[in-house]
Amino acid sequence: MNVQRPHIPLKAIRAEVAECHRCPLCEGRTQTVFGVGNPEARVLIVGEAPGKNEDLQGEPFVGAAGKYLNELLAVAGLARDEVFIANVLKCRPPSNRDPRPEEIQACAPYLREQTRTIDPEFIVTLGNFATKFILKTDVGITRLHGTLQRAGRFKVFPIFHPAAALYDGSKREALENDFTTLGELLKS
Ligand code: URA
Repeated sequence: MNVQRPHIPLKAIRAEVAECHRCPLCEGRTQTVFGVGNPEARVLIVGEAPGKNEDLQGEPFVGAAGKYLNELLAVAGLARDEVFIANVLKCRPPSNRDPRPEEIQACAPYLREQTRTIDPEFIVTLGNFATKFILKTDVGITRLHGTLQRAGRFKVFPIFHPAAALYDGSKREALENDFTTLGELLKS
């Protein structure tokens, strides 16, 4: 018999994250960044890790990349409060360096439980770290972006990280096209 364990309420996962000491990133944080949005969202957006502004405000994507993300969500016909936004890591890596494999491993159960509880139809992965984490793949975002994938019962739609377009303007068109495609997928 396949008995599913019950979903953990987001409030309980949040409380556990707030107290987390599973990796050394806890020492440098102002606060954890759990995630924000509609707990019953059809779309879960997954980024990489909090940056400086997110660490200070306790909310994902509130800096420059976040402002751009809000514009991109609008391209897909989505409002920020309609989706749920979370990161692979809940604490800011120092100097915004890349997440380390052991940090991802330590933090992984939180995003897994968030995903189970929210139970979205679509997971939109922003950039390489989120995409590799959700799809368990080594294929990079340059090949995967804008293609509909699957992870278990979830539809997964990888997109470049919005911060990448802030440094490399040539990614803007791809990002905007991919969010347009996401809007069309949501209508179908
Ligand atoms: N980049 C991310 O991946 N996540 C944030 O929350 C902010 C910037």
